[in-house]
Amino acid sequence: MRKGRFKKWNFVPIFTLLALALAGCGDPRVSALVPQGSNARESLYLIKLSAYIMFGVMAVVILLLAVVLIRFRAKKDDASIPKQVEGSNLLEFIWTSIPVLIITVLAVVTLNLTFSMAQDHSDDPNALKLEVIAHQYWWEFRYPDLGIVTAQDLYIPAGKKISVELYSADVIHSFWVPALTGKMDTNPGYIKDGIRQNVNRFSFDAETTGVFLGKCAELCGPSHPLMEFKVIALSEDEFNRWAERMKEPPAKAASAQVQAGEQVFQQNCMSCHAVDATDTANRPGPNLANIGNRLTIAGVLPAGTDEERAESLKKWIEEPNRTKPQNDVPGTVVMPPFKDRLNAEQMDDLLRYLMEQKIDVTPPKTAKGN
Ligand code: CUA
Repeated sequence: MRKGRFKKWNFVPIFTLLALALAGCGDPRVSALVPQGSNARESLYLIKLSAYIMFGVMAVVILLLAVVLIRFRAKKDDASIPKQVEGSNLLEFIWTSIPVLIITVLAVVTLNLTFSMAQDHSDDPNALKLEVIAHQYWWEFRYPDLGIVTAQDLYIPAGKKISVELYSADVIHSFWVPALTGKMDTNPGYIKDGIRQNVNRFSFDAETTGVFLGKCAELCGPSHPLMEFKVIALSEDEFNRWAERMKEPPAKAASAQVQAGEQVFQQNCMSCHAVDATDTANRPGPNLANIGNRLTIAGVLPAGTDEERAESLKKWIEEPNRTKPQNDVPGTVVMPPFKDRLNAEQMDDLLRYLMEQKIDVTPPKTAKGN
C-alpha cells in the first residue's frame, strides 16, 4: 500500500515536465507569453491581471489563516467557547464586498479588451483583407483585394490590421497563432442565396516583423497535430513587393530539364495544384506558387537548405502518408503517393521545376532555420 502510493507520487514531476513541454515554452514563435501582436498582448495583460489578483487574494488568505492559527490557538485546559460572530453585519459586508469589487474590476477590463479585440475592420480601408480556408490538413490563404492565393506560409504586413474571414472546406478546424492572437474556429458552413454562411470574422496584427508559428487548435483527424502554418510578417514595403511579385506569371522554364519538370507537373499535378498565385479557382490541393521559398514542406518537413527542401519534397510526393496520415474515407481529397507513378528521372525533373517556383522576396530565416 505504502509502496503503491509512493509510486503514484513519482508521476508528479513527470507530469509537470510534460505539461511544460506541451505548453511549448521556450520557442518564442509559438509562445503566448512573448506577445508580438496586439491581440496577444491584450490577452497576456488579462492573464497577468487575473493571476496577480489571484496571488494577492491567496497571500491575504494564507496570512490571515496563519495569524488565526497562531494567535487564537486553543490554550491547554481552556475549554471555553470563543466569541461567536454569526450575523455580524460588518463582517458579512466585508466578505461580500471584496469579491464583488474584484469581479467588477475583472469584468470591466475583460469586457473592454473583448470589445477592442472584436472590433470589425472589414470596412477599414487601411486593413488588409484575408480569407482563411482550412483543409484536412493544410491552410489556404486568399487575398481578395490583391487577387492572390497562397498556402501554408501566410505573408502579412507588420503593423497593419488583418481583417480575416474564416471557413473550412471540410470539418471544423481552428486558426491559432499563439504569439499574435487567440484561436478562431473555421466552420464548414454552406452557401445560401450565393452567400457563404457560418463564416467567422475577426482581425489581428503583428506588431513586429518576424516568423510566427500557427497551429490548428481543433481536433480534426489523424494529422491534426501536423496541421501547422507560418505567419511571415514583413515590413509594409517588403510585403507590397511580395504581393507585386506574386501577381506576376510564373517564370518561363530556364533550361531543358526544368522544361521537362514542367511537363511532369502538367501531366501529374495540375489537376489539383496551381503554380500561379493569381489562379483563384477552387482547386483540391494547395496553390504551389513560391513553393521554392516555403519555410517548410507540407507544413512540417524541413526546408532550411536547398538539399533539405529537395529531400522533403521528394519524401512528401513519394509517400505523403508517411508524413501526414490522411483520411481513409471514400470521398475525401487526399494527396496520392507518386512513388510508383514517376521514375527517378521524372522525379528529379519535377523537383527541379518545383524548386524554381520562387520569387525574389525571401522570408526571414528564423533562429532554427526553418
Ligand atoms: Cu485542423 Cu486540427
